[in-house]
Amino acid sequence: NAASAAVADDAAMDADIAAAARVLEAGGLVAFPTETVYGLGADAENPAAVARIYQAKGRPNDHPVIVHVAPGADLDYWVTDIPDAARQLVAAFWPGPLTLILKRASHIPDAVSGGQDTVGIRCPAHPVAIALLSAFKGGRGGLAAPSANKFGNVSPTTAQHVRDEFHLDDVEEGSISGEPACSAGLHVTVLEGGASQVGIESTIVDLSRLATHGPVLLRPGHITARQIADVIGLLPAAPDQAAPRASGTLESHYAPRTPVTMVAHAALADTVAQLQARGARVAVIGHACDAMVDLGDSRRLLPAEPVGYAYGIYAALREMDLVKADVILVETPPQSSDWLGVNDRLRRSVFGSTGILARFLSE
Ligand code: TXA
Ligand code: MG
Repeated sequence: NAASAAVADDAAMDADIAAAARVLEAGGLVAFPTETVYGLGADAENPAAVARIYQAKGRPNDHPVIVHVAPGADLDYWVTDIPDAARQLVAAFWPGPLTLILKRASHIPDAVSGGQDTVGIRCPAHPVAIALLSAFKGGRGGLAAPSANKFGNVSPTTAQHVRDEFHLDDVEEGSISGEPACSAGLHVTVLEGGASQVGIESTIVDLSRLATHGPVLLRPGHITARQIADVIGLLPAAPDQAAPRASGTLESHYAPRTPVTMVAHAALADTVAQLQARGARVAVIGHACDAMVDLGDSRRLLPAEPVGYAYGIYAALREMDLVKADVILVETPPQSSDWLGVNDRLRRSVFGSTGILARFLSE
């Protein structure tokens, strides 16, 4: 029956998680679900293991990665000079989609911090991530984990997205016991955890220069600057108001292969018609716009509120990339502050597509 099947599933998942923890302890790579996006994890205290992340992603190795820790982890082990504001945010939002940038402890490898004197740390809320972090090194370890995608690509929000990214399709669904495929000669074990509930990467707030620069919002996300201000009494500023930093603000895009461009609601129907009249194949991602029904599979509708939109946007970008359109038009979402995380990711996904409409429409 359903109940005993669920128990059997739980037992299989426990075995998968235990096996994944052993893979990590041996210096291997494990892709695991978090509530934001799937991460590609390695032992944060093993530089050779962290190097494999960069190799698998094809990512420049001066980019810092976030360290993921278990609930109740000893913050003082990982970071130093911890301001009260950091402990308040941990108490308020962990486990959850908030990354804190703090001064790193001396044993954090350069490969994790990108050679900076700071490190990003967060405790994710997904039950599989928590179980993995609790099993890994008896809950005292940290997992360096960027999003589990090739550098510059759209972040994965399902295990299938991860398998697609690293061409792991011969790995059995939900199984880590099959023969793992390789990416650049590397084994990647994938843990199944359903669709990530938040859907965009964690909010990043830099508290490492709190006394001189105040809190700095390096990446907007599900947890808003306003929510942070409600806890610490200071509103995180946008990064350009602070001293220039090497990372976090990088324009590295979350981009499909198909060019992406934003179009205002009022211009959407006309733009589609004009492009089609010139023979262009068009895909559209809208929110609650009722038009464009004739686009069929080349159209995705997302909820007209930021939480549901964030949940669906990366999968929508991936799906619209697959229909092999010439251009993906995204109906511009509202610009209010609760849409900041979504608009930040969309701005990055249009990176490199400048002038794409003009190119088609001038032909
Ligand atoms: O939601 C998330 O944060 C996901 C999941 C897997 O936890 N992870 C994620 O990692 O988005 P990644 O590597 O794709 O993005 C990490 C961001 C980068 O923009 C990086 O530059 C910034 O965090 N970052 C990490 N350490 C930093 C540091 N010490 N100083 C400034 N920025 C840092
Ligand atoms: Mg990423």
